[in-house]
Amino acid sequence: MPAVELVGITKHFGTVPANDGIDLAVERGEVHAVVGENGAGKSTLMSILYGLHRPDAGHVLRDGTRIRLRSPADAIAHGLGMIHQRFRLFPGLTVAENVVIGAEPARLGVLDRAEARRTVAGLAARYGLEVDPESRVGELPVGVRQRVEILKALHRRAEVLILDEPTAVLTPGEADRLIGVLRELAATGVSVVLVTHKLSEVLAASDRVTVLRKGRVTGRFVTAATSADELVTAMIGRSLTEAAPPPGKVTAEPYLLEVRDLRVRDRDGVPRLAGVSFGVRPGEIVGIAGVAGSGQRELVDAVTGLGRADAGQVLLDGRPVGGGRDRRVAYVPEDRAGRATAPGMSLADNLLMGAQRGFLLSMRLVRERAAGLVERFGVRAASVRAPIARLSGGNAQKAVLARELSRDAPVLVVEEPTQGVDVGAQEHIHALLAAARDAGRAVLLQSSELTELRALADRVLVMLAGRVVAELPAAEATDERLGAAMTGAAA
Ligand SMILES: Nc1ncnc2c1ncn2[C@@H]1O[C@H](COP(=O)(O)OP(=O)(O)O)[C@@H](O)[C@H]1O
Ligand SMILES: [Mg+2]
Repeated sequence: MPAVELVGITKHFGTVPANDGIDLAVERGEVHAVVGENGAGKSTLMSILYGLHRPDAGHVLRDGTRIRLRSPADAIAHGLGMIHQRFRLFPGLTVAENVVIGAEPARLGVLDRAEARRTVAGLAARYGLEVDPESRVGELPVGVRQRVEILKALHRRAEVLILDEPTAVLTPGEADRLIGVLRELAATGVSVVLVTHKLSEVLAASDRVTVLRKGRVTGRFVTAATSADELVTAMIGRSLTEAAPPPGKVTAEPYLLEVRDLRVRDRDGVPRLAGVSFGVRPGEIVGIAGVAGSGQRELVDAVTGLGRADAGQVLLDGRPVGGGRDRRVAYVPEDRAGRATAPGMSLADNLLMGAQRGFLLSMRLVRERAAGLVERFGVRAASVRAPIARLSGGNAQKAVLARELSRDAPVLVVEEPTQGVDVGAQEHIHALLAAARDAGRAVLLQSSELTELRALADRVLVMLAGRVVAELPAAEATDERLGAAMTGAAA
């Protein structure tokens, strides 16, 4: 008998079916991965399981018995625990205090510290979770705080642990350790529901997988007997055809975008760009690599006209870029929520932002044009009237690309185009960037994903301490060579 079973769960938000008749059974002692693209309905399903949302239809069985989940308190009472992405811990208290607080009536209102310490040390040992019960939570790295959340759930006798995209906040090393912890927990009989859109995690951590797509189950697999390909097909409804779009043609045309000896100092007079020069031809993608803070941001600001340079030039077709946003440069920033979109405004308004050019477009025209862009760029949204903040990360990114590419600016500057975006949307975004290149635009692509730079860029420039320290053709831009240049290990 499954430890927990969701039966025929349906949940609508407005007219959008976030969950549409989902069945999911989680066995005792297994790690059960729930995967799907952004917007597939994973979080909604988990919120229903944890009593945060009520389903329109369907029910939940716990050890074969139907239970009512009207609130998280009901879920906890039935042995369900949720590890939130934003931890609900008190930074000023110790690990032990955080774990026991709220779960047990303190004797005369006072927490028995020694008792708490013993309890937490015992739990930690039993489940193989390394933490020091005495440490102050505020001083711990994120990965360890997450372990404290897990201990807290176990202390409340959770037998089913729900983790919604738990590795999104972790470094790669911490993510590996978490997966180890989840395997340990399952070995002791705990059932783990692991929500993720990263296939490598699914394959490393889970026993079985349920795939969701557009609110429905599109696949159920035993992890050991499936493959990344099979999972991707269930997730996005087709397989990923070629790994990368075909490369562009090398041209000998003059630079469309040219940067000459650019120098920028910050407020304290520290050099952030110490003489950067390079050019991008039409029909070419030039990649920018480097560890964070090597001058990429200052370079992008100078090229887009958002920031000023202390010396040097940025030329478009031989003419200097103007201050403020230069209309000849399209820009897809990393910080989508902050720089690229007005979150409270509708998708339609966001898509046509800046396109009004002096006359007001009628509401109807805005909506028609927005609908055209949504169609052309494959943005998945319930309505162009809904706030853009409702869109999943991948769809918001496609919307920003749609807006910037439809402006017909000759130069395109893109930062971290696929950060936080699932595989299906990644492929689509890469194809859009390759198409912009093929249309003769000069593309400057800043990315921390070396595979992305290799797949798209013709050449990769490596920045370190405000300078370009290496330039490699894509074919020579191996992890080793890029890594060496990024850290200054290359001569
Ligand atoms: N509170 C909400 N209000 C309106 N729509 C929502 C809400 N939560 C989720 N949705 C919509 O339901 C769908 C599924 O979302 P979600 O469950 O968050 O997917 P996932 O976790 O797989 O990315 C999406 O279309 C999303 O926009
Ligand atoms: Mg989610």
